[in-house]
Amino acid sequence: MKLTAVVALSLTAGAAFAQAIPEAQVRRRAEGLLAKMTPEEKIGQLSQMFYGIIPGMKISDDIIRQGKIGSFLMITDPVLANRLQHVAVDESRLHIPLLYGFDVIHGFHTIFPVPLAMAASWDRELIERVQGLAAREASAVGVRWTFAPMVDIARDPRWGRIVEGAGEDPYLGSKVAAAQVRGFQGPYDGAADHVLACVKHFAGYGAADGGRDYDSSWVPEDRMWNVYLPPFHAAVEAGSASLMPAYMDLNGIPATANTFLLREVLRKAWKFQGFVVSDAFSVRDLQTHGFAATPEDAAFRAFTAGVDMDMGSMTYSKQLPALLQSGKISKTELDAAVLRLLEAKIRLGLFEHPYVDVSRVATVFDMASTREAAREAGARVAVLLRNEGNVLPLAKSIQRVAVIGPLGNTDDLLGSWTLANAHEHAVTVVDGIREKLGSNARVEAAPGVQIARRYPSFFDMLLGAKPEPKWDAERVKAEFSRAVDLARNSDAVVLALGEKQQMSGEAASRSSIDLPGEQEQLLEAVAAVGKPTVLVLINGRPLNLTGAAAHVPAIVEAWYPGVEGGNSIADVLFGDANPGGKLPVTFPRSTGQIPIYYAHNLTHQPDTSAGFTSRYWDEPSSPLYPFGYGLSYTQFAFSNLRVSAPSVARGGKITVSVDVENTGQRAGDEVVQLYIHQRSGSASRPVRELKGFERVPLAAGQKRTIEFALGAEERRYWNSAKHGWVEDASKFDVWAGGDSTASPHTTFDVSE
Ligand code: NOJ
Repeated sequence: MKLTAVVALSLTAGAAFAQAIPEAQVRRRAEGLLAKMTPEEKIGQLSQMFYGIIPGMKISDDIIRQGKIGSFLMITDPVLANRLQHVAVDESRLHIPLLYGFDVIHGFHTIFPVPLAMAASWDRELIERVQGLAAREASAVGVRWTFAPMVDIARDPRWGRIVEGAGEDPYLGSKVAAAQVRGFQGPYDGAADHVLACVKHFAGYGAADGGRDYDSSWVPEDRMWNVYLPPFHAAVEAGSASLMPAYMDLNGIPATANTFLLREVLRKAWKFQGFVVSDAFSVRDLQTHGFAATPEDAAFRAFTAGVDMDMGSMTYSKQLPALLQSGKISKTELDAAVLRLLEAKIRLGLFEHPYVDVSRVATVFDMASTREAAREAGARVAVLLRNEGNVLPLAKSIQRVAVIGPLGNTDDLLGSWTLANAHEHAVTVVDGIREKLGSNARVEAAPGVQIARRYPSFFDMLLGAKPEPKWDAERVKAEFSRAVDLARNSDAVVLALGEKQQMSGEAASRSSIDLPGEQEQLLEAVAAVGKPTVLVLINGRPLNLTGAAAHVPAIVEAWYPGVEGGNSIADVLFGDANPGGKLPVTFPRSTGQIPIYYAHNLTHQPDTSAGFTSRYWDEPSSPLYPFGYGLSYTQFAFSNLRVSAPSVARGGKITVSVDVENTGQRAGDEVVQLYIHQRSGSASRPVRELKGFERVPLAAGQKRTIEFALGAEERRYWNSAKHGWVEDASKFDVWAGGDSTASPHTTFDVSE
């Protein structure tokens, strides 16, 4: 008994309390400390610097000793973390520990599927669990604060950062946001093996003009409240300890100094109690925007808008002392910001447990259960887009498999945020298939083509990654032919195409969503060989798959599935896992359809009689694959959609039920989705809106009834004419099914 307790204890982080510290005690301690602080020490707590990652940047310990810094980001070496922490705790006047932050976005040591992929699992429990595992690894080295979840709604797949969020929908996005916060933070701030969350990037970042990263967003009031803000609100409600404003201008005002966002919405409407950290260098950059006149003006405007901590730029450090002295910023305002930071450190238990146990790190990193979770997650995020003639699953008796494409044998499966573990190898598609089939099968790879960014990636530069030497014309030809020959000499072909990991993410926007380089030509040439061919997509955004779908019978969207990716993909391809993921974002037919999303308003009804039938004349107006879509190796049938009452008064709740049955031969998961539409009211409303979902495992032949509650919360929306929330009396359509085009339908009324 006793022994178990000791073992369990030694596996949990040092910096932790068995339960939350009472809030009154937190406040008393923070105020006691604040009373002893000089203005410089206070401003120090509001300053955060990068450590070690920016080339040529040297930071002397004196800055810590003098209390001029409250937090570092990017420290992942526990020995260094402890050393610097000793300087802060032992040698600074007030012994205030440092808070270490890091971008733990989709794993720390163990890299999990990227966030867009995790959203495709539609599995809240999995999302929470995986972020909890990431938090355990990060906290083991001293990182106690992650800059996540990223909850920006994105309806433009050209925008590179679409990979970091949950896709296009505010309802799904809100559920995913809350699950992530719970996963990172655990039951309370300071819980063992957990970290503080920082919901970002507040707000409208995903609406960047042209999908260009950092470009301006122009978002009308109703869209702001109904689409972009809900996931932030959900994260705040779930208790996110901190929040980060976005880089760009929102409606002409930089988010970093946007009082509408930071005061009206965040503090007044949502009563947010946590602290606000700027994005990297964005306080300084208020001048770059053409907004602040001077660095002093930048500090003043960010601080008075509500940014508590300056990430990276040290503008607060340089400018706040004078602003304080001149009375432009009051002591009360400064104290309020500092208090929020001190309270966060107290809640975390940093004062009692400032150091990590370095000897424990390897044990935490090596936990087999974490790798198993990564493999499971990699399979649960896969979306089966196409499976003509049941090409999939492939038989394990297959003798010769050709893995063709530039992503068949690379580490790109890791995805965009892997800074803590940038040199880790992923299980590649080839590795995974070899492992699955054993030594009797011949599994060979040929890249066929080479793909590269036209402009280099910031992260590659940072990590000193060497670009692959460009193939000369002769090699280009030879590699292409080798790939096609390999296809010819195989029993089945797995085409591993998509985007390299740094083609999605920050500063990774594209002007086109076509498969980069010559991949489409390779696909056509390989498909023409006529072998059973499966396309496995490795990518972090919707791509144009119109050509692919015309040539290849089976398509699996594997996303960037993480370090176990090849195993997860093999599990799916050979039927050990039955794909149950669904698209969290619409897949357009072409770049020209962007923006396209399922929850659009109908507006003018196309006249079906006289050439007004579609909105483009050169392409259908529908997407290639709709939001919520995904197939399985089994089939599901929906029936008996019903509402608990035909009508309800405003504010009232009804229950919607639907039966779902696995009508196929093998077990599988269906994501049951509920959509509604308000037929009339004080504004026109989207043709459909997701209002409930559940990923349901079903044995062959099993049938279950799934229930959803539909209350005022699900029906209300922000009305731009009334500048507020409304719930209209109206007739409502209800659909339930396996994607956003589901046909089972019923109605109910909301009366006055
Ligand atoms: C800039 C990114 O926009 C943000 O998401 C990230 O957290 C910070 N850099 C820190 O790395």
